[in-house]
Amino acid sequence: MSDLVCVKDFEDRAFKILPRNALDYYRSGAGRQETLENNRTAFSKLKIRPRCLRNVSKRDVSTTVFGEKVSIPVGISPTAMQRMAHPEGECANARAAEAMGTIFTLSTIATSSIEEVAEAAPGAIKWFQLYIFNDREVTRQLVRRAENAGYKALVLTVDTPFFGLRLADMRNKFKLPTHLKLANFEGTVASVANKKSETTGSGLNDLGNLFDASLSWDDIAWLKTITRLPIVLKGILTAEDAMLAADLGVAAVLVSNHGARQVDGTPASIEALPEIVNAAGHRLEVFLDGGITDGTDIFKALALGAKMVFVGRPALWGLACGGADGVTKILGILKTEFEYALGISGCSTVADIRSNMVVHESFYSKL
Ligand code: LAC
Repeated sequence: MSDLVCVKDFEDRAFKILPRNALDYYRSGAGRQETLENNRTAFSKLKIRPRCLRNVSKRDVSTTVFGEKVSIPVGISPTAMQRMAHPEGECANARAAEAMGTIFTLSTIATSSIEEVAEAAPGAIKWFQLYIFNDREVTRQLVRRAENAGYKALVLTVDTPFFGLRLADMRNKFKLPTHLKLANFEGTVASVANKKSETTGSGLNDLGNLFDASLSWDDIAWLKTITRLPIVLKGILTAEDAMLAADLGVAAVLVSNHGARQVDGTPASIEALPEIVNAAGHRLEVFLDGGITDGTDIFKALALGAKMVFVGRPALWGLACGGADGVTKILGILKTEFEYALGISGCSTVADIRSNMVVHESFYSKL
């Protein structure tokens, strides 16, 4: 891996080594994938206005989230079925977060169980991503298990009444390979992704049909009654929903378009960030994922008001290339790149980043 020096290098290598079924599942967005492309290009349209001569001889890239120190403002977003990328899957990914002193978010749709991951990475700050199933008892059990295993927050995905249409998965008739199982479940739910769907072709869509598509804001109040963990709503893209989230007293929103996998045509998450920060940033924490591949992306997101960013696919590329070491290297690269962006732009700490240090490129169009 010594020749891999940036996230794109890992991505290119992962594209060569992952089996097609898994690669397409991980890399795809929904529909025409315009939002997938936009998640990255939107960052290029933002420009950093660096400040000079500000004594950056001592730099600190750490921050705090829900009262806990994290060594970098980058955590790992939930992504499903990670043992397709590496035999140790989620356990390896969590160990990398542990090594780096940051947050690992385990997916409900994982190929390692809540308890296995807790045992593999006892020192990692672990959050649990939640889907609410038609059978509320399933959700209640998942919450109990996450609490008992020491997870520190629940990340409820709110952009997925059911899964989006990903064309490559439909063409490939995506299935989870039969030697793998959805490890947080038993019986029919555990194996639902091992079968192709009769309706869309992709086994994921049948799994998604077990989710409660009638979910509404009232259910957030219900979730609060069954847990004392902080709740993060993942998938918020509008000021309106951010304000509803704040009214319900959730701890944070994760501005996200689900890796562009739900409905094509939504904005890049970085484009949606400012309206959400303006509407609710004074009432709850705001996090972001979607398109982060470089330390400058982190700087831009923090300048626009994110407290922390998360990466999904980059960690998968790290896993594919080298298991826990691969993900640790990805996080190390992002840490170094972010420290360079921070210091060279005239900041010593994340608190020094000011909102006027990042502008849309149209700021310069009057030239
Ligand atoms: C996906 C789900 C599992 O995007 O979050 O495939």
